[in-house]
Amino acid sequence: MSGTEYPSDTMTDMTPEPTGPRRVVVLISGSGSNLQALIDAQSHDRLGGEIVAVISNVADAYGLKRAHEAGIEAVALPHREYDNREAYDGALIKVIERHEPDLIVLAGFMRILTPRFVQRFLGRMLNIHPSLLPEYQGLNTHARALADKVTSHGCSVHFVTEELDGGPVVLQAELAVTPEDNAETLKEKVHAREHLIYPIAVQWFLEGRLQYSAEGAKMDGHLLPEHGMRLSHADAAEELDEELDEDTDV
Ligand code: GRF
Repeated sequence: MSGTEYPSDTMTDMTPEPTGPRRVVVLISGSGSNLQALIDAQSHDRLGGEIVAVISNVADAYGLKRAHEAGIEAVALPHREYDNREAYDGALIKVIERHEPDLIVLAGFMRILTPRFVQRFLGRMLNIHPSLLPEYQGLNTHARALADKVTSHGCSVHFVTEELDGGPVVLQAELAVTPEDNAETLKEKVHAREHLIYPIAVQWFLEGRLQYSAEGAKMDGHLLPEHGMRLSHADAAEELDEELDEDTDV
C-alpha cells in the first residue's frame, strides 16, 4: 500500500450522504381537501418534508388542479386504461418509485390496493379514514354512525396494511355527535378534523418519530394504544374555533 492509499474506514467513507428534504407522494381520487391541508402545512414549514408528486386515478380530480397550482407535479394515471387491478397497481408502483418517496400518503384514494402494492410500501404508507377506527371500516361511515346513534365519531390516520382500513392507527380526532347532526354536518366536521391531524401525523413520520410495527404504530419508540394518539372533541374544537357545546362529554 502506498502512502497515499487509505484503508476503507477513512474519514471520507464516514462522511454522511447529503440528504435533502424527505419526499412525499400523495395519491388522490377527488377533491383533495386533505391534500390542500398538507400543501398548506408544507408552505408553513410544518410538514417535515416536501410533496414531490400527486397522482390521481381520476383524470379530472380537482386535487390535481390544487397540486398544479402549488407547483407540484400532478400525474393522472386513469385506472380505466388498465386491464386489471394488478396491471394498474404495477404501473402505479413504477410512477411512485420514479419519485423516490420516503412516504406515500393516501388522501381520498378510492381504490382497493393489491397485496403486492401494499407490501411494496408497507411501513411507509399512511391513509386517513372518516371514522374512529376500528369502528366503521369501509364506506358510508357517517350514515352508519348516525344509524347507530353514536355520541362520538371522528377520523383516524393509520398505516396501510392488506386489511382494508385495518392497519395500525396513529392518530385520531374525536367529535361529539349532537341530535341535530346529519350525514352532511358530520362530514363537514370530520373533514375539518382530518385537515388538522393529517399534517401532524405526516410530520411525525417524516421526522422519524413514527414507525410501523406489526404489533401497532410506535411513537418515539413506544407502542401506541389500539386507537393511536387521540385528540379529544374539546381540543379539536378549540383548535378549529368551533363553538363548544357545554353538554358534550368527549
Ligand atoms: C376523506 O373523507 C378521507 O377520510 C377519505 O376520503 C375523503 C377524501 O376527501 N379517505 P378529500 O378528497 O381529501 O377532500
